[in-house]
This record gives sequence, C-alpha cells and structure tokens, in this order.
Amino acid sequence: MIKWPFKKKSKAPEFKTNLIALAEVDSTNSYLRQYTPATDENMTVVSADFQTAGRGQGTHTWESERGKNLLFSILTHPMTVPLRSQFILSEAGALALKEVLDTYTDNISLKWPNDIYWKNRKLSGTLIETSIAGGHIKNCIFGIGLNVNQQTFESDAPNPVSLFQILGHEVDRESLLKQIITAFTKYHEMAVNGQHGDISARYHEALYRRHGFHSYEDKDGCFEAAIVEVGDDGLLVLRDQEGRFREYEFKEVKFIN
Ligand code: BTN
Repeated sequence: MIKWPFKKKSKAPEFKTNLIALAEVDSTNSYLRQYTPATDENMTVVSADFQTAGRGQGTHTWESERGKNLLFSILTHPMTVPLRSQFILSEAGALALKEVLDTYTDNISLKWPNDIYWKNRKLSGTLIETSIAGGHIKNCIFGIGLNVNQQTFESDAPNPVSLFQILGHEVDRESLLKQIITAFTKYHEMAVNGQHGDISARYHEALYRRHGFHSYEDKDGCFEAAIVEVGDDGLLVLRDQEGRFREYEFKEVKFIN
C-alpha cells in the first residue's frame, strides 16, 4: 500500500480571553496591575459596575454613576510591538471602540490621543498603562470608561456625553461590552501582527479635527492650527497659520472650542 505523504493540519492555539465581572472595585486598572494571568490566558478583561477610585489621565478621576456605564480594563501582552511604536496599541484600541460605536450613532471621532468624541463631546476615555521587561511590552492595560446610560454628569469633566443622551434610550451594557471585546481583539491582533500602516491610516481618517484650522492653546497662548499628523511616537504635529510646525506631547496642548 502506498502511503501518501500528508501534512498534519497544524491547529492555531486557541486565543483565550478571561472575563471577570465585579460589582465594585477601586479601579479596574489597579486590579489588573496586581493580577497574575493563567499561563494560557492571552487576554484578561475586568469590568466593574462601580469604581471607588476610578482614575483618569494625569491627576484626574473618572466619574461614573453606579451600574450605568461601562468601566473595564483589558490586559494584553503585546511582546512583538516595538517600544518605539507602542502608540499603535492606543490607536488600535480607539479604532475598536469607534467601530462598535459607529453601529449606534453617527459623528464618532477619535480625539488625540485616544478619547472617543461624539461631535464636540467626550463619550469615552482610555487610560493606558504599560510595563516593560527585557525591552518588550510585557503588560499593557487599556482602561476604558464609556458613558452608556448615565443621564446627567455632576463633575467638572469637560463636555461629557452618554449614549443615552445621544440616542434617547438605554443600551444593553453587556452586549455592548461583548461587541467591544470582539472588535478590540481584532484590532489588537492587527497591531501585534505588525499591520501598523493600516491601523495608522484608519486612525488618521477617524481623527477629530482632521480637516481645517481650529483653536489650540499651549504654554505660550492660543493659536489657530491644522493637524498635520500624529507621529508613530504619538506626538501631535500641528501647522499654525504662519506655516510653522509645532509638535506636542500629551497635555502640552489643549483643544479650544
Ligand atoms: C481619561 O481621563 O480620559 C481616561 C479615563 C479612563 C477611565 C477608565 S474607567 C476603567 C479604568 N479604570 C480606571 O481607574 N480608569 C479607567
């Protein structure tokens, strides 16, 4: 009997996501900073109905009424993403949110670096925290706050808006979270697989204020400028009305309405 040479079908190992749902926690980001994933766990998602010490960018806190919104953090291990281009992870996360939110409403854009805007109002913010080991990104925590069913906002957060306020009805938080995890997994895999050109092109296409001149403020005062690009390093490049290029790190420039 002739035995045909055959190749054993190589099955890609299953991508494992662990989803942890908590009623209350200090901060889902802080929870994941202490967390040790199982060896076969590729991604860990922790969500909470309420945070007692929700953290925003810089020194800000994150306001969210109990049980009304999505508060969750995603832990990944994007070892293949070079440190110098780690901003691609931020772009990928923001694009995942936009892809899902586009199915709910028009007018979603990405405000540099990774806020989600509806028109001129902030619908979602992300706090990214990474840890580096041996020159690689060992852990990346994407902490996402998305205003879903909250009807009024008390804090002095600038221009918050929720899906409820946009749509006029409540949205099922659980299915929204599932959609986001699916989209996030897709975009994150693109980043890990090196599809940086594609992600960056989509990010620029979706940028808030991507066309025309708008008002900004830096340490020297207010000026009008147009967005030139967001560099691979995450720096925002503006061109002012005198044709001068100005480059900013996060928090060095304010968008003025
Ligand atoms: C921002 O200031 O725009 C970022 C806000 C990030 C808030 C989220 S809510 C879930 C996760 N846990 C936190 O403590 N912060 C992030």
